[in-house]
Amino acid sequence: MIQTFGLVKQYKNLTAVNSLDLTVNEGEIFGFIGPNGAGKTTTIRMLATLTKPTSGHALVAGYNILTQADEVKRVIGYMPDSFGVYEDMKVWEYLDFFAAAYKIPKEKRGQIVDDVLNLTDLIYKKDDYVEALSKGMKQRLCLAKTLVHDPKVLLLDEPASGLDPRARIELRELLKELCKMGKTILVSSHILTELADFCTSIGIIEQGRLLAAGKVDDILKNVKASKVVKVTVRENAEKGRELMAAHPNVKSAEIEGNVVIVHLDLSCEDTSFIAEELLKNGIKFTSMKEEELDLEDIFMKITTGAVQ
Ligand SMILES: Nc1ncnc2c1ncn2[C@@H]1O[C@H](COP(=O)(O)OP(=O)(O)OP(=O)(O)O)[C@@H](O)[C@H]1O
Ligand SMILES: [Mg+2]
Repeated sequence: MIQTFGLVKQYKNLTAVNSLDLTVNEGEIFGFIGPNGAGKTTTIRMLATLTKPTSGHALVAGYNILTQADEVKRVIGYMPDSFGVYEDMKVWEYLDFFAAAYKIPKEKRGQIVDDVLNLTDLIYKKDDYVEALSKGMKQRLCLAKTLVHDPKVLLLDEPASGLDPRARIELRELLKELCKMGKTILVSSHILTELADFCTSIGIIEQGRLLAAGKVDDILKNVKASKVVKVTVRENAEKGRELMAAHPNVKSAEIEGNVVIVHLDLSCEDTSFIAEELLKNGIKFTSMKEEELDLEDIFMKITTGAVQ
């Protein structure tokens, strides 16, 4: 549904987007993640045909962003990272205005406006003025605006920024619902954990380059160097560490207080030998658990923290 081919955007001597090859399949929620200045907005604006690439090209729903910009605009719903000012306009008028811009006939617009307001939980604000909405409500109105022409592809630039925790969860649910309705969604954020659990795949971008892309679990597997099991022992932690370190299945072992930290090969499936070995040697333990994948750590490993 979205495919970019060596997409480049150059601003004087700054390469904002650098040979980007990205694929988002139909029905996916693709998380586009990167730190400030990574090139997310620039990429999304190129896909939305608002900025021309310096070189390379891209297809959106099969339409070329360079030669078929009108067709692209018809199939996308673009939510920019900032919301413009609309004075003296009521919520429903604002949506009606955009629906009219998409040439939706007047007799259909009323129902569409109600539908998108219901979907984004704003129906009770229908007759309020746009400028009187809170930031989170404006975000939702902006999302409602991107839906009036029933686009196949949603390009959402940091839709969760400035939202409170509950609103973030609600947004997540809304995106899942839109995905179920058959839409393909590209959503950007600089927070990996915010997207990882509901995106079907993610891409991590830094300094205009795609550093990793694919299913979250696959990316984690590639980045993670070893499997870690933490065993909390009653006593004799040092003896436990020595035992573990000497075991052929173990890469290394260390202690932190009364916790023995055992590093294993990623391929090591069966970790039951740890418990057997400890018990056999009279070392009692109160808990043993495999360390959860820490998404923030992974993100820090993949990105280098360099900005242009
Ligand atoms: N119109 C412009 N003129 C010159 N440089 C620009 C322009 N727009 C963006 N840039 C530069 O391109 C780089 C990428 O910016 P972009 O806005 O795409 O990043 P981003 O990933 O969206 O960051 P953020 O998380 O802060 O929104 C930055 O270094 C930025 O300064
Ligand atoms: Mg941005």
